Amino acid sequence: MDKLAWQVADGSSTRHVAIIMDGNGRWAAERGLPRSEGHRQGVEALRRTVEASRDLGITHLTLYSFSSENWSRPKQEINDLFGLLRRFVRRDLAELHKNGVKIRVIGTRAGLDADLLRMIDDAVELTKDNTELNLTIAFNYGSRDEIARAARRIAEDVSNGSVTASDVTPELLGTYLDTAGLPDPDLLIRTSGELRLSNFLLWQLAYSEFVFVDVYWPDFSRELLEAAIDEYQRRSRRFGGTSTRSAG
Ligand code: FPP
Repeated sequence: MDKLAWQVADGSSTRHVAIIMDGNGRWAAERGLPRSEGHRQGVEALRRTVEASRDLGITHLTLYSFSSENWSRPKQEINDLFGLLRRFVRRDLAELHKNGVKIRVIGTRAGLDADLLRMIDDAVELTKDNTELNLTIAFNYGSRDEIARAARRIAEDVSNGSVTASDVTPELLGTYLDTAGLPDPDLLIRTSGELRLSNFLLWQLAYSEFVFVDVYWPDFSRELLEAAIDEYQRRSRRFGGTSTRSAG
């Protein structure tokens, strides 16, 4: 599959893939390895996926890497995940920047260390003018929390008079979400065979196609990404209307 293979039929020039990277722990358990090794291999799969996305002409890639619910995991595993994010930013940032990747992080900043926040802010600032691929990492993210934070800010703006209650439309609410300015995902992929959204982009995925892939995230590959896109292209998207538009 080359860049031209994912044709857009609806006039949109964006191709947005969102992924729930699931199954690192089970991948490790099946091999008698610690969960941390599963996450480490998960980062390798993430690197492969970013590279494949650029090659395939995907314009937006959004990855669920740490949910607000993940705080309930053992402290050691949380430390491992935070360590991987730090290492990923430290080691891969220069390469991502060279390759034109624009980084954005969605989720709440509450509860994150100041040094991690600074690393994230620096990565966002460095890559802000890049246009090759928009890479959004959902970190410390939960969709209900995102919507509640948006509602809170709207309420504040209504009380300070900059917004009136009748201004509140889906379009306005979208501008208060962490994803403001991003197109909605065309395609959601979840690995590991689980069939749930797990509080990921509940608002933004309203019309997206879902493809569930029966391998654990560390085994995800360019071929499986291409297969998911093939499946997406075979479906037709109606956006709630009656006229059929081909996926794209
Ligand atoms: C799901 O596997 C995966 C996660 C909770 C985290 C995903 C994280 C990575 C791919 C590595 C971190 C990379 C960055 C850049 C932060 P699971 O642990 O829920 O697996 P299980 O369901 O089999 O237990």
